[in-house]
Amino acid sequence: MRIIVQQGAIQQTVADAIVVNLFEGVTAPGGATGAVEAALRPPGAAQGPLGQRIQLGDFTGKLNEITIIYTAGALPAARVIVVGLGKAEEFTLDRARQASATAIRTARDLGCRTVATIAHGGGIGGFAMREAAQATVEGALLGSYTFQEQKTSANNRHRLESCILVEYDARKVAEAEAGAREGEIVARAVNAARTLVNRPPNLLTPAAFAEEARDMAQRVGLSCTVLEEADLAAHQMGGLLAVGKGSVNPPRFVVLEHAPAGAAEARPLVFVGKGVTFDTGGISIKPADNMQSMKADMSGAAAVFGAMQAIAQLGLTQRVVGLIPLVENMPDGRAFRPGDVITMMSGTTVEVISTDAEGRLILADALHFAKRYRPRAVVDVATLTGACVVALGEEVAAGLFANDEAWAACVQRAAEASGERVWRLPLYEDYGDKIRSDYADLKNSGGRNSGVGTSAYFLYHFVRGADSYPWAHLDIAGMMFSSETKGYHVKGARGFGVRLLVALAQGV
Ligand code: BES
Ligand code: MN
Ligand code: ZN
Repeated sequence: MRIIVQQGAIQQTVADAIVVNLFEGVTAPGGATGAVEAALRPPGAAQGPLGQRIQLGDFTGKLNEITIIYTAGALPAARVIVVGLGKAEEFTLDRARQASATAIRTARDLGCRTVATIAHGGGIGGFAMREAAQATVEGALLGSYTFQEQKTSANNRHRLESCILVEYDARKVAEAEAGAREGEIVARAVNAARTLVNRPPNLLTPAAFAEEARDMAQRVGLSCTVLEEADLAAHQMGGLLAVGKGSVNPPRFVVLEHAPAGAAEARPLVFVGKGVTFDTGGISIKPADNMQSMKADMSGAAAVFGAMQAIAQLGLTQRVVGLIPLVENMPDGRAFRPGDVITMMSGTTVEVISTDAEGRLILADALHFAKRYRPRAVVDVATLTGACVVALGEEVAAGLFANDEAWAACVQRAAEASGERVWRLPLYEDYGDKIRSDYADLKNSGGRNSGVGTSAYFLYHFVRGADSYPWAHLDIAGMMFSSETKGYHVKGARGFGVRLLVALAQGV
């Protein structure tokens, strides 16, 4: 879907549908909605079709509520889609994103090819036009996302070709344009991450993911290095190599770098994403029920991929490095096994208790590798533990661990700005006690209890030491999928983390 920004009056815009909005409790619509209503009011009538619906209680303006008005030739557009924004005092940009998504999806499902919308939240919403336009465009593109790569017949319900963002005030059009472009970059990056997660694991192997990264980097102007198995051996990445041993699809390690002129030598922000393209559990095999969801065990990697794509396209001024360890965790005659002791890139030895605690092994090597960049700060994103899902819930929030209060606060601000929720969890030393091994320096599992804390503390071990850095760990295990299409979420991969990481790099 193309995004077009246009100066004009929404009620005069030529499109298959136009979108306006209403705050809950408003009885006499103003602004663009009022102008549409006035144009639809029959001569001599006390009110127009929207006022009538409000009066009858048929439309109240609750968040994401929709009513469709057919204009019968009174306007160039045959349909008016009115979307509720909820109560004015509860309005946020995230609500603008949701409302936009719901309205644009309504137009799409009606079979519209072109839809025109106002920027939600710019007028009485109280937000700057730039922010309102960005949120509206993000909502439109995120909400109308579909994944159809493996469908053999084209779904012709989905033929939305363009979305026109209409701004009446000529002085605000440049601002709307800037916001729309930014929203477009960010939303396309989230959708790219969603597509990688949705793609089946037989197609998205570590090598295939690395190829996608190489193509993307070329397109947007990032530098990209892909380490293959021999390179991983040369770097002594014992964690990544051990996990990869059971698969015929060999591991990869992708390094993406955004090094803008003037900051190319600066200490970078480093993002690390867990890229397990499929997690069977290995020899410590998982139960069969719902195992297919473990194709999403590379959601952290996809978040880093998407964020790096957006950061390059936005032309952010700071240096950012993305590290993506990629591996498939399979049971096999060559697979690593419980009882094995492996030597990590850092030299630390790890006793394998469970081959299903594989994420921390590949992340540990990446977090150690990060030290060579002398990072300003690091954040890793990983679908690391079922225990985090038990603690915080599915589709609720990511767990946040950090070794630095200022950096934790930055991550929390980015989470609030993006609407991607995180909840801080503690790094108590007690968790460290539970992963001491009798046979090596560490063991990779502390058992069922304290599952999320011990996994974070395991990672913390590889961050500490002389060349340590401010670090945050996001456990996004509960945030892989949306179970239903709602607001700007579409059933399937969520693309969680892209917007948070971009906000972080923007220094929000
Ligand atoms: N990828 C899983 C974690 C996961 C589980 C993500 C459910 C999303 C939904 C991870 O590799 C894993 O298997 N973790 C184990 C660790 C345990 C063996 C210490 C877990 O959480 O059970
Ligand atoms: Mn696992
Ligand atoms: Zn895993």
